[in-house]
Amino acid sequence: MNANGARQPIGVFDSGIGGLTVVKALIEELPGESIVYFGDTARVPYGTKSKSTIVKFSLENVEFLLRFGVKCIVIACNTSSSWALPTLRKYFKVPIVGVIRPGALAAVRQTRTKRIGVIGTTATIKSGAYETAIHRIDPAIKVVSQHCPLFVPLVEEGWLNGAISRQVARRYLEPLARQRIDTLILGCTHYPLLASTIQQVLGSGVSLVDSAKQTATEVRGVLMGADALSHGSGRPRYRFFVTDEPQHFDRLGHRFLGQVIGSVERANGHYGPR
Ligand code: DGL
Repeated sequence: MNANGARQPIGVFDSGIGGLTVVKALIEELPGESIVYFGDTARVPYGTKSKSTIVKFSLENVEFLLRFGVKCIVIACNTSSSWALPTLRKYFKVPIVGVIRPGALAAVRQTRTKRIGVIGTTATIKSGAYETAIHRIDPAIKVVSQHCPLFVPLVEEGWLNGAISRQVARRYLEPLARQRIDTLILGCTHYPLLASTIQQVLGSGVSLVDSAKQTATEVRGVLMGADALSHGSGRPRYRFFVTDEPQHFDRLGHRFLGQVIGSVERANGHYGPR
């Protein structure tokens, strides 16, 4: 990557729609940057799949984004970041940023009692990636993890508040509360949308950490280090690709992005099995 790369877009991929929470943070942090987003909506969820499948899909997703000459790649998906980041960095020269280390760093900065909770998909929790990242920064921190498989479908149904979401959240989070955590990492793209329900269940004594913002800060650092920050000439362009029906993504997407998406393109034709 060199200064000529400044005008190239940032590539972002996720298993589906949830990665738009990371795009939102990127747009806020780096408003001059163009973005190409790839959501693998035909194969979502990744959170229930095995490591080898997650790594294979992630390799394909990076190959897709590289066709756009992206200057760096952000893995918005916690599940992919947990299992595939080392392999992707081995295979590709483009800088790749995952969400795990930034989230871990934000939580370590936040905790006062050194007791951090982590919630995520089954695959993310099974990987132990957040725990490893936290202990690399501070081995004395106690980490308590919990997978919350019903949270993703709840968010996709739009059930963000209300009795059912609260009941599910209580079931998952009460064991964490009993461990007296003071900080909770929302280790999945979808969970920031449940933040108010999660906060209600845990009470105001627990701080919630969303990796997206810290990830955007890290992307800024990577681009600055490579002298590849866009200097803001011309309006940024946002392109969204999905592997299944674009309408569904378009309909739900504004909830995650916080604004209307515009146009969503189908990735077929660019994209196929390796
Ligand atoms: N994007 C995934 C994550 O952040 C959640 C959805 C899925 O299971 O694919 O882990």
